[in-house]
Amino acid sequence: MAIDLAVVPVAGQGTRLLPSTKSQPKEMLPVGRKPVVQYVVEELANSGIHRLMFITGPGKASIENHFDTNWELITFLRETGREELLEELDFERQSLEYFYTRQRRQLGLGHAVLCARPLVDDQPFVVALGDSIIGVNAQSDIVARMVERFEAESADVVVAFEEVPSQDVVRYGIASPGGDGQAGDIFELADLVEKPSVDEAPSRLAVAARYVLSPRIFDALEKTEPGKGGEIQLTDAIRSVLADGGRGIGIRLQPDERRFDIGNFGSYFRAFTEFALADPRYGRGLREHLRDLLDGGTS
Ligand code: G1P
Repeated sequence: MAIDLAVVPVAGQGTRLLPSTKSQPKEMLPVGRKPVVQYVVEELANSGIHRLMFITGPGKASIENHFDTNWELITFLRETGREELLEELDFERQSLEYFYTRQRRQLGLGHAVLCARPLVDDQPFVVALGDSIIGVNAQSDIVARMVERFEAESADVVVAFEEVPSQDVVRYGIASPGGDGQAGDIFELADLVEKPSVDEAPSRLAVAARYVLSPRIFDALEKTEPGKGGEIQLTDAIRSVLADGGRGIGIRLQPDERRFDIGNFGSYFRAFTEFALADPRYGRGLREHLRDLLDGGTS
């Protein structure tokens, strides 16, 4: 059966984005016209996902509201003659089923994924981090390609990777490719290390927020002790599945599939600017404005 279930962890506190995230989830920050998590959901829907399980935490209710149908707003727009705005709400009508559960203690990404076990049970599933967009306007079909590989190769783990500059390896899970270590677009994933030092990093291939996992991961997660940052790391559970003989595959993002992770202000500002510049209505004017600003030497 094709994989149609994705787990979307959105429980993180967003402390690197304070004060913006004091009373709203970082996943609801706008990038261009839409909140981050809407891009993630639209990307997944385009890759054949029909069921989404969000792992939420305190203060994340606006994510549930965003994907719910808001009849009051629909009626208001109709009654005030602004039907044309209804198309902005089309995403509410996608044929998706939403499930929500709360991670009751902030014990890390691995623990968040483990919270999905009662729903996922013994099926393979996708994990898509709710704070990372793949490609401008989320046009990527990376998840569909990963699912295809997962099924064709009877894999246990497929992970998306993006090459990062060597000083950035400390921020990500980093791949150790198998064979001769020369990783092509699709490669054998021999091992994975969470946030290694520059010297210890086995490559510059960084986990890019999308995974396809067999349910074997749950037993591994149950046994995973806190790792980097004192958190139960998904990376460590994947590592133990691989060490137990599980088959792992890495897939590189293509150049037009850059990952925008909205975890800190630097990457958030870059993402917003790039999406705003790509906006069909406002992009051109913004480009001129930015040019004027930069020419004026105020940068
Ligand atoms: C998490 C993962 C890390 C991965 C990153 C981006 O880290 O633990 O392996 O590279 O997401 O996909 P975080 O950004 O939550 O610290």
